[in-house]
Amino acid sequence: MTTVLPDDGLMLGIETSCDDTGVAVVRPDGQVVAAAVASQVELHDRYGGVYPEMASRAHVDAILPTVRKVLTDADLRPADLTAIGVTRGPGLIGSLVVGTNSAVGLGDGWGLPVHGVNHLRGHLRSADLDERRVEYPAMVLLVSGGHTLLAHLAGPGEVELVGSTRDDSVGEAYDKVARMLGLPYPGGPAIDMLAKAGTADVAFPRPAKDLELDFSFSGLKSAVSRFLAANPDHPHADVAASFVDACLDVLVAKCRRALERYPSRCLVVVGGVAASPQVRAAAQQLCGEAGVSLCLPPLRWSTDNGAMIGLAAWDYLARGLDARPRPDTSLTIADW
Ligand code: KG4
Ligand code: ZN
Repeated sequence: MTTVLPDDGLMLGIETSCDDTGVAVVRPDGQVVAAAVASQVELHDRYGGVYPEMASRAHVDAILPTVRKVLTDADLRPADLTAIGVTRGPGLIGSLVVGTNSAVGLGDGWGLPVHGVNHLRGHLRSADLDERRVEYPAMVLLVSGGHTLLAHLAGPGEVELVGSTRDDSVGEAYDKVARMLGLPYPGGPAIDMLAKAGTADVAFPRPAKDLELDFSFSGLKSAVSRFLAANPDHPHADVAASFVDACLDVLVAKCRRALERYPSRCLVVVGGVAASPQVRAAAQQLCGEAGVSLCLPPLRWSTDNGAMIGLAAWDYLARGLDARPRPDTSLTIADW
C-alpha cells in the first residue's frame, strides 16, 4: 500500500541513538523547516568516548527543551504536525529508550501517530535533505561512529547490503586514534585538522584489501598504537596524516570495486565521517574517475540529526509500514 503524502505535511523527527539529541520538522520533499541538536560532546570528552549511562541521562534533560525550541523556532503548535518519527535502532539501548518513550508520550498527548525509524535508513535519507540529490540506481557508503558499510539502492527504499565491517567502524578508529594522540572527543574533526598539517610518511597497513567489499579497521588501529609506542617522538601530525591516508585508500578501493560490480549512477557518502574534508575530496576524485556523480549531504546533516529521521519517517508513512517505536538494537540497513 502506498499513501500519497501531503505536500504541506510536517513530520517531527527525533534522534537519540547515541550522544546527540536531534530534533527537526521536515516536509515530505526534504525541506527542513527547523532543526536543533543538543550535543553532549563536553560531557563525554573526559572519557574519550561515549559513556552510555551519562548519554541516556543527558537525553532525558535535553529532549523536551529541544522539541520546544524547534517548534518555537518554526512558530508551530503540536496541532500543526502530521506525525512523529523517532529512531528505534540501532544504537545505545538507554539512549533509544529515552527517545522512543518521549515520542510515544508526545504522540499520545498530541493525538499524533508515531513511527519507529531505522537510524541507518535515516543516514541514507540525509542525502536528500534540503534538496533531492540521489539518482538511482545508487551505491551508498555509510561511514559513521557505529557503522561502515556499502549498500546498493536499486530504487528509493530498495536497499541491498553489499559490504560491512568485520570489526571496528572507521569512525571508531578515528576516535580511538585521536585518543592515542591526545586529541579531544569526537576524534574525527580533530584528526582531520591535525592531518592537514602533516605528511603521510608512515606506511600503515591497508586492511581488508582481500575482503571483497567488507572492511576491517581494528588492525590499522593496533598498527598506529604499536607505532606510537615504538616511535614516541614521531610528529603526531605525520601519524595523523598517515592514518587518514590508510583509511582513505581502503574506503576508495572498496567504493571503486562496488561501483564496478553494481550499476550505479551516483555514489552517496553519508554518516559522521562523511563530514571529513579529506573523505569528501577522495570521494569526489573517485567519482570523476568512475564517471558517476557524487551525492553528499550538507555537513550539518552528515552527523546524527533529527531531520534525517524525519525524512525517513515519511517513507514509512508513504508505504503504510507499521514500525512500532520500540527500541531494536539489532536492525541492519536492509530492515525498515
Ligand atoms: O553519524 P554519526 O554522527 O554517529 C553515528 O551514527 O555513529 O558519526 C559519528 C562519527 C564519530 O566517530 C566522529 O569522530 C566522526 O563521525 N566524525 C568525523 C567528522 N565529524 C564527525 N570524522 C571525520 N571527520 C569529521 N569532520
Ligand atoms: Zn548515526
